[in-house]
Amino acid sequence: MAILVTGGMGYIGSHTVIKLLEDNKDVIIIDNLVNSKEEVLNHIESITMKRPLFIHGDIRDEKLLDELFTKHIINSVIHFAGLKAVGESVDEPIKYYDNNIIGTITLLKVMRKHSCKQMVFSSSATVYGNNPNVPFEESYPLSTTNPYGATKHMIEDILRDVYKSDKGWSIALLRYFNPIGAHESGLIGEDPNDIPNNLLPYVAKVATGELACLSVFGDDYNTPDGTGVRDYIHVDDLASGHLKALNYIDSLTGIEAFNLGTGKGYSVLDVVKAFEKASQKTIKYQVVNRREGDIPTCYANVDKAKQLLNWQAYKNINQMCEDAWRFACNKSNHKE
Ligand code: NAD
Ligand code: WQD
Repeated sequence: MAILVTGGMGYIGSHTVIKLLEDNKDVIIIDNLVNSKEEVLNHIESITMKRPLFIHGDIRDEKLLDELFTKHIINSVIHFAGLKAVGESVDEPIKYYDNNIIGTITLLKVMRKHSCKQMVFSSSATVYGNNPNVPFEESYPLSTTNPYGATKHMIEDILRDVYKSDKGWSIALLRYFNPIGAHESGLIGEDPNDIPNNLLPYVAKVATGELACLSVFGDDYNTPDGTGVRDYIHVDDLASGHLKALNYIDSLTGIEAFNLGTGKGYSVLDVVKAFEKASQKTIKYQVVNRREGDIPTCYANVDKAKQLLNWQAYKNINQMCEDAWRFACNKSNHKE
């Protein structure tokens, strides 16, 4: 019995595939490579000595999915496939609703047809919107501030309705906080093609000299040093959370949301300092205006994941930066 991993060539998906293969699971990846590269498969193989079946395709292709579910016995799906750039989603909302919503609905139709009713879904802390009451708890009301976030909120609602209509489903909604870091081998990590939007890949490129200077988006927030505070979580810890969630949904039906974070907040300047320590480089930065849509502080209450999934994050901010730096050095060596 196989686990289908949609978006399994991407940043979080590839780290999760490694954990699944290390746990002797049978894995099938479907990915259209819109934001990842085929070489990731070779890296997965050199880390695990196993090569998962990879289907280069789009989850909106119902016929392809149907063939896949007909040919293989698929017991559960980990659903990472989606577009994730907040700014781009504001400029191109139709692209985001089409990819993320239609993609998920197509997948659900085929899963239902083949009686596969177990799903782990990549949600996001973005579904807590502008709520000022940190730490965020799963029971908080949901709201969103951009089309990307709206797709996550809508998909959560769709999945809740799917469960209401058929109590045979078992679904975990994993709300990730800020995933950073890379595999300890330095072979896979977050590798955006364009100028990064997120803090860590940007800082890494300043450290390697590919970008000149980090813009710190505001130092006048009500936080200890005035810069934004986030709950950064090592992608390897996050990947482990998916195995725990799979075990959980295998044991009972229902739908539950879980925060996956460390429960600790670090400011932009804390991250800059930790990255300087890891890389032994000076990160040049300048403070600029706040970025529209940013909230001052965001971190998780992680009690529910601890209690029900028996999961917690172990790696600290220094390890996150060390692993991200190893990956960044590998990447920039390959470009030379
Ligand atoms: P990623 O872009 O690295 O991975 C997503 C993968 O999905 C890519 O390999 C992409 O090619 C693939 N994909 C996209 N649309 C597809 C489609 N229609 N059909 C097939 N494949 C498709 O992103 P990631 O950081 O690994 O994120 C994985 C999931 O987690 C996403 O759903 C994202 O929204 C969610 N998430 C990410 C973060 C984060 O900060 N990285 C935080 C919260 C939630
Ligand atoms: C972190 C902090 C910025 C870049 C985003 C999505 C969220 C989730 C994770 C998917 C903030 C500051 C950043 C820079 C900076 N993704 N910053 N200079 O905004 O918390 O979350 O990714 O679900 O939905 O919104 O992450 O890494 O962009 O920012 O000062 O060049 O770093 O203001 O305080 P964010 P981020």
